[in-house]
Amino acid sequence: MPSTTRTNNGVEIPQAGFGVYQIPASRTAETVRTALEAGYRHIDTAQAYGNEAEVGTAIVRSGVPREDVFITTKLNPQRHGYVSTGQELEASLQKLQTSYVDLYLLHWPTPGRDRYLESWRACEDLLAGGKVRSIGVSNLTVADLEWLAGRSETVPAVNQVEIHPSFQQDELRQYHDAHGILTEAWGPIAWGESLKDPTLQVLAEQYGRTPAQLILRWHLQLGNIPLCKSVTPSRIRENLAIFDFRIDAEDMERIATLDGDPKGAPSRTLSAGLPRWQP
Ligand SMILES: NC(=O)c1ccc[n+]([C@@H]2O[C@H](COP(=O)([O-])OP(=O)(O)OC[C@H]3O[C@@H](n4cnc5c(N)ncnc54)[C@H](OP(=O)(O)O)[C@@H]3O)[C@@H](O)[C@H]2O)c1
Repeated sequence: MPSTTRTNNGVEIPQAGFGVYQIPASRTAETVRTALEAGYRHIDTAQAYGNEAEVGTAIVRSGVPREDVFITTKLNPQRHGYVSTGQELEASLQKLQTSYVDLYLLHWPTPGRDRYLESWRACEDLLAGGKVRSIGVSNLTVADLEWLAGRSETVPAVNQVEIHPSFQQDELRQYHDAHGILTEAWGPIAWGESLKDPTLQVLAEQYGRTPAQLILRWHLQLGNIPLCKSVTPSRIRENLAIFDFRIDAEDMERIATLDGDPKGAPSRTLSAGLPRWQP
């Protein structure tokens, strides 16, 4: 079973999450049911994924008590604003068939719209009102986090960012650790690209694991919360069988050397070229 960790406001969060980005709505309920049966208790969705309703249906039908499943959803940046944030959360709650979410994230920054802070204030109020158990951000850099820290007393519970062996984000992770922010890793196996890495393949064989298991275990040992997505039942089970072995320190060091490897998977964050706030 997945181990858990705690957010800076004391909420328990399973250390392996199941992501549902790019799972078509028509396949989401069946896939989430498979994930829950496999033992996942942390589901990561978003308004923008268009499958919150199907996630809700799967959880309700699964018979797993609501309080045993950690549900994250995210606000679409097109709806940033104080009032709209509350309205959009209500819409998400209805779709998810629940009265609260465990984690509410601002999905990505849109400095050009300049309504991020309004949404963050709304998140603070939703947290105080009990509609969300924790609030966080996604796709923020160190500079962005500093920008937010200069304008809000509330430290985000998590920052959900792209991390995989060829894009390890050390500086950002260290900043998170120093400020009590949990690191959630999206694209944890680089959408399958990291599995082709010869170093990781050799190491995986040495541990008697698949490359995906080795990489997801590496995330756990760094303190990340990996959010892996799969629609394939055997892979869903495989990706959760990572809590019964340990990568030794020397091999963690070898994996560290893959950061920035030009032969590794290129970062999608950088290629997206999101605009940033001016300091
Ligand atoms: N906050 C953000 O901006 C953001 C951005 C992107 C993603 N996310 C979150 O992070 C989650 C994961 O990200 P992601 O889907 O981009 O990347 P990912 O989890 O690294 O990769 C998913 C891909 O890997 C394949 N796969 C999964 N397990 C495998 C295994 N054991 N062996 C071989 N292939 C395997 C899947 O194939 P099959 O499905 O065909 O099995 C799928 O094509 C998303 O679902 C979402 O919840 C957040």
